[in-house]
Amino acid sequence: MQWATLAAAATALLVEQAAAQGNMLRFACSQLVVERTDPLVNPGMKYTPHLHQIVGGDAFNVTMDPSQDIAQLSKCTSCSFVQDKSNYWTAVMFFKHKNGSYIRVPQVGNGGPQGKLINDGGLDIYYIPSGKVTAFKKGFRMLAGNAGNTDPSKVVKSRICHRCWTSSNEDKFVGGAPCDNSDTVDIPADPKCKMIRQTIIFPTCWDGKNLDSPDHQSHMAYGQGSGANGGGSCPSTHPVKVPQIMYELMWNVTNFADKNMWPTDGSKPFVYSMNIGGSAAHGDYVFGWEGDSLQKAMDNGCNLNNACPKAGLTTQQPAQYNACKKKQQAVEDVDGWLKEMPLGSKAIKA
Ligand SMILES: *[C@@H]1O[C@H](CO)[C@@H](O)[C@H](O)[C@H]1NC(C)=O
Ligand SMILES: *[C@@H]1O[C@H](CO)[C@@H](O)[C@H](O)[C@H]1NC(C)=O
Ligand SMILES: *[C@@H]1O[C@H](CO)[C@@H](O)[C@H](O)[C@H]1NC(C)=O
Repeated sequence: MQWATLAAAATALLVEQAAAQGNMLRFACSQLVVERTDPLVNPGMKYTPHLHQIVGGDAFNVTMDPSQDIAQLSKCTSCSFVQDKSNYWTAVMFFKHKNGSYIRVPQVGNGGPQGKLINDGGLDIYYIPSGKVTAFKKGFRMLAGNAGNTDPSKVVKSRICHRCWTSSNEDKFVGGAPCDNSDTVDIPADPKCKMIRQTIIFPTCWDGKNLDSPDHQSHMAYGQGSGANGGGSCPSTHPVKVPQIMYELMWNVTNFADKNMWPTDGSKPFVYSMNIGGSAAHGDYVFGWEGDSLQKAMDNGCNLNNACPKAGLTTQQPAQYNACKKKQQAVEDVDGWLKEMPLGSKAIKA
């Protein structure tokens, strides 16, 4: 059993399920830009209410007109598949020092069945099909989670969760399948954690009509069941099964393990850029695969981060995708020790 030594039951199970189904994409995306923009929720605005870390195609912008084809507009992508010019973004995690200063927690690639995924300050993306799936269309976008939520009981833990990673080696799996009993809704605050893994699982059922909706959520629904298995059967209101997108972020908290640095006023050491904890975790997605390459990838059993000639998928080396960067449009310091978290107030319509 090679899996048993390589990986814990969790990811082995996930991969086994996907292997039984024939395909699952899992690949690295490096940092494109970290800035206060959000073309989905706050189009046209610079210095949006909170900071995001963004990966994917470099057509990412303060405004992204859904009628434009970002696969054509992008000159490069920070993801390993050349054909994927989508944009993926989430909040940023900060460590709060007891002296009141904040510093951005570094993001690293995860280990796993392919060995370490190399990302330069980004995340790992999954597309998990369950049976025959319909790929997203040009202009499609969606949001998972709620950036303003402060109540952990309002979060479904099997969809958005956090896990304390006690191993400094990201190849050593900790716990069971993603978003199970080894996970919490809140961000763990335990000096034993070397890394904190954040998982965001998107809904898999589409209404088949709308590329977006006013809340960026109601055109989508979660299928029956739970977990990172492609999703179960869809409700009649949202009958079209799409690939299950999962974001996997490894926040490297190794440098913040010394409890002497932690806040003494009762506030949490790790918070997201809304200045709220795990209950406000969220992920944004703007589809941008070239042509029908994602549909072909799903139909042809393309696997993990391997090139897949049947679907025309080619890959680039880390040096190439790491080089795809964008300058901040909402210019401000986001690295090093910050006297305050970059938040609210100075919104400017671009
Ligand atoms: C980004 O948006 C700004 C303002 O809407 C626009 O002037 C600029 O041309 C856009 N850049 C790209 C690369 O599309
Ligand atoms: C807080 O502590 C950090 C780490 O020692 C230091 O770099 C930073 O300048 C301090 N901030 C303030 C406001 O003293
Ligand atoms: C996490 O950060 C520590 C301290 O900077 C570093 O030694 C380690 O290599 C990092 N882990 C990964 C997986 O990059």
